Amino acid sequence: MARILITSALPYINGVKHLGNLAGSMLPADVYARFQRARGHEVLYICATDEHGTPAELAAAAAGQDVMTYCEEQHRLQHDIGRGFGLSWDWFGRSSSPQNARLTQHFAEVLEDNGYIEERTDKLVYSIDDKRFLPDRYIQGICPVCGFPDARGDQCDNCGSLLDPIDLKEPYSVISGSRNLEVRDSRNLYLVQTKLQDAIRKWVDAKPEFSSLARSIAYKHLDEGLIDRGITRDLSWGVPVIRGGQPRTGFEDKVFYVWFDAPIEYIGATEEWADATGGDWARWWREDQGAKDVRYVEFMGKDNVAFHTVSFPATILGSDEPWKSVDNLKAFNWLNWYGDKFSTSKGRGVFMDQALELLPSDYWRWYLTANSPEHSDTAFTWEQFQGAANKDLADVLGNFVNRILKFAEARFEGKIPAGGEPGPLEDKLFAQVSEKLADLTAQFEAIEIRKTAQALRALWVVGNEYLQEAAPWTAIKTDPDRAAVIVRKAINLVALYARVSAPIIPHAAEVIAQAVGEPYPPTWPSPDAKVELSRLEAGRAFSVPDVLFRKIEDDQVAAWTERFAGKS
Ligand code: 2FM
Ligand code: ZN
Repeated sequence: MARILITSALPYINGVKHLGNLAGSMLPADVYARFQRARGHEVLYICATDEHGTPAELAAAAAGQDVMTYCEEQHRLQHDIGRGFGLSWDWFGRSSSPQNARLTQHFAEVLEDNGYIEERTDKLVYSIDDKRFLPDRYIQGICPVCGFPDARGDQCDNCGSLLDPIDLKEPYSVISGSRNLEVRDSRNLYLVQTKLQDAIRKWVDAKPEFSSLARSIAYKHLDEGLIDRGITRDLSWGVPVIRGGQPRTGFEDKVFYVWFDAPIEYIGATEEWADATGGDWARWWREDQGAKDVRYVEFMGKDNVAFHTVSFPATILGSDEPWKSVDNLKAFNWLNWYGDKFSTSKGRGVFMDQALELLPSDYWRWYLTANSPEHSDTAFTWEQFQGAANKDLADVLGNFVNRILKFAEARFEGKIPAGGEPGPLEDKLFAQVSEKLADLTAQFEAIEIRKTAQALRALWVVGNEYLQEAAPWTAIKTDPDRAAVIVRKAINLVALYARVSAPIIPHAAEVIAQAVGEPYPPTWPSPDAKVELSRLEAGRAFSVPDVLFRKIEDDQVAAWTERFAGKS
């Protein structure tokens, strides 16, 4: 038994996330966590809301709430929606926790002691009317690169350029709209990444498991040459700049930058989990306290990779303390909405809360796994979604389960029948199931998300083909023992499907497991199909579940297409 630590990128607190956020981090992490738990490994799946920074403050102001109340409400909302999707986090923490504040301050302290943090003077935009500095998103103006009129201080949403607020043309304060701005000096702490460049490159070199997307992004940044990063901001919401228990002189009105404290919250959230459950967080994170045996896998969208292959490693390596660092980093491309971005303000695309109102979560989980934006950007379309639900879930899996259980209930009084011996068709079935099961297991182990769905579907197809060929409805007329063998094997297949489908469609898997009297959550089957398809003994009672997956009708697709298209 191994110990596997899994984290998915921490969703920003400001608002419910869309299906792309789900598909590119939280869902594949959950699928992998469920698989590895079923394999018998000790798994800890950690996530949290990323609560600091200007987006949180601005969203709270727009909602007319103080930022703490806003974050508390939004955290609960994201937690509940995530659970609605079956996300099996062991802990869903908050980056605003005291645990994270302490850890963030600790890292800053040791980094400074080791010579990797320096105080420097920045030229920052100050709003005379608002009587404050305007970091990041508190300032907007014309993009110096593309001319977009509403570029934010830190980034242009139109051309994607990373910006320095003082370069914006015709800038104004987002708080008051005032253009009465000037450039003033401000002291800030800098993480001196240039000193850690070689160490970080060596560290990446030693991570052959990283997905190719993750590696290419890491080397792109390293090859371009790292720059030192300001890790404090003139804001009040965030982790206070405290050193040795005392506010740092000159930094009383400053906090750490959100991207400095956010990845540290992976550790912070594990401490939150430990404090709440009596667990041992150090066993997962400190190599001097057992974490050497941990295998750590991170899931995230491609925009987060630089922070996890350069900035966070700089924090960890620069601390010179024995922290566990990531072994496998699985990065994802974008899921788009018909080739365009999801947009809250334009009402384009389905967000997680809306998805759950339309259909049970397994529909979405299946589609987003089978069409994972894993190796390239991927476009959501309703037609594909309808096809995946109706063909794969309803026709292939759902139909198999209902058809055989209904037939068996009618002919064998709701009990798995005895009698007969397996013949050549069953030998063929055992061979096919063994082969497909081996493939499925290998794809899960390799975290090949799309291929897990393909392999699972192939396993469902084998059952349908077997039933078609063996035709128990014909056999029952002339050879009841033969019909009994087929029904027995087919119900064993039903039970097997519950076990192997559970990582991707856990809710349906639970319904199926219950129908055939199997435990849930399940364990992963052994590679020997002959053994696995003989587990359920004759005489065991079963029931017929309701239709597992209702088909999505054309008129539903038409209505949803219009509703979620977004105003242009
Ligand atoms: O891009 C984002 O959604 C960030 N909130 C991800 C943070 S991941 C981790 F570093 F905290
Ligand atoms: Zn631009």
